[in-house]
Amino acid sequence: MTRIAVYPGSFDPPTRGHTDLVSRSLSLADRVIVALARNSAKEPLFTAEERLEMLRTVAGSDPRVSFESFDGLLVDFARARGATLIVRGLRAISDFEYEFQMAMMNRKLLPGLETVFLVPPEDATYLSSSLVREVARHGGDVSSLVHPVVAEALRRRFAR
Ligand code: PNS
Repeated sequence: MTRIAVYPGSFDPPTRGHTDLVSRSLSLADRVIVALARNSAKEPLFTAEERLEMLRTVAGSDPRVSFESFDGLLVDFARARGATLIVRGLRAISDFEYEFQMAMMNRKLLPGLETVFLVPPEDATYLSSSLVREVARHGGDVSSLVHPVVAEALRRRFAR
């Protein structure tokens, strides 16, 4: 049986933490679908297409990994793809409440769909897309936090 995992998120933009999580999740599943949520409540900096393109560049070197976007509920997307696992990163205690609620709700909506949490590398525990956006917006150096392609996209987006 092929074990399929979904790694959902906003990825606005993808960071080194996301790339690391994609690689780690391959030890849990035969295939990983990186699933970009289109209808996130947040107003994104990059379009879904731009983010998918960046994701393919930063995390697309393994044929077991694919990239898609989805509308609506994550559980419906997971069901349609035959996925049995959701993978999420857990950086700090502050992530826990939100992640725990989502995991419980997703399991309630689709029993049998398990969420697993992976811990990022120590030097990425502080890393988030929102902080990367904030630093880049004010001209800070994000080159150690994101792939060069993402750093360049941020530079262009915030160029005056
Ligand atoms: O990277 P993020 O923004 O923390 O990811 C959140 C995401 C996209 C995983 C979550 O908002 C989601 O699953 N959205 C799809 C809609 C949905 O299923 N919502 C109910 C979750 S319990």
